[in-house]
Amino acid sequence: KHVAVLMGGWSSEREVSLRSGKACADALARTGKYKVTPVDVTRDIAATLTALGPDVALNVLHGRPGEDGTLQGILEILGIPYSHSGVMASSVAMRKDVAKTLLAAAGVPMPGGCIANRFEAAKQHLLPPPYVIKPIAEGSSVGVFIVREDHAHPPQELTRPDWHFGEMVMVEPYIAGKELTCAVMGDKALGVIEIVPTVKFYDYEAKYAPGGSKHILPAPVSDEVYAACQKYALLAHDALGCRGVTRTDFRYDDTKPGLEGFGCLEVNTQPGMTETSLVPEMAQHAGVSFEELVSWMVEDASL
Ligand code: DAL
Ligand code: MG
Repeated sequence: KHVAVLMGGWSSEREVSLRSGKACADALARTGKYKVTPVDVTRDIAATLTALGPDVALNVLHGRPGEDGTLQGILEILGIPYSHSGVMASSVAMRKDVAKTLLAAAGVPMPGGCIANRFEAAKQHLLPPPYVIKPIAEGSSVGVFIVREDHAHPPQELTRPDWHFGEMVMVEPYIAGKELTCAVMGDKALGVIEIVPTVKFYDYEAKYAPGGSKHILPAPVSDEVYAACQKYALLAHDALGCRGVTRTDFRYDDTKPGLEGFGCLEVNTQPGMTETSLVPEMAQHAGVSFEELVSWMVEDASL
């Protein structure tokens, strides 16, 4: 089978995608079962793929254009089976505000809050601090601000002329406590990881710098909370119509009783696939090697 490994692109997560893509291409090559062609995705992707004629596309993009459904549309038109979610699920999941409405309707516990124009959000506190402001269509914590109790004003960076994360932002209550995440592979939830940042906030640096965060698997939470992560990761995956592998992120305030302090942050349809990323670690824990995980994604690809 000839596999085109699609990576790079032009989102703020380009560098992460190149790392994920290289890890996946190397893993597929190690199996000896596939002919592997890494493709750095540019605006010429349709012509590139037509010339290449792969049997399958392994989509390892983060952000535009591989996480928002647009690349999936091209692959549909070209008739090339591809990994991960389809056009609609991808575009819906990429828009955190749209996804939030659908997830809440499906019964996934979501934090409240609102969406606002970035200038409105910069003018006055739209929620009592602590709260979070984030772009509605970014990943890897790019452009995310936590507004704490002692902040007199919202972050003024939102008004910068070179702000390029879109005009609308999400404003959500900040859930103190633990960051938890759980992946779905096909129809099964994998194990739950607690992410402990070694800095204050699990930001871009903490996500990708060596030693920036520590992963605990299985997450040290009650059986009730562990099961809730798995249940809601599956529910979220299905509610958005996702396919293949997704990873859903949660926060949990353990000072509150039961599931009162539990909330879902988002569904990632193109989760990180570097060798030290969360999903490969969860798969490994379930007895699935990195090579097996990536091969599974290739075999699961469809139109
Ligand atoms: N957006 C990054 C790649 C993730 O969710 O893993
Ligand atoms: Mg994300």
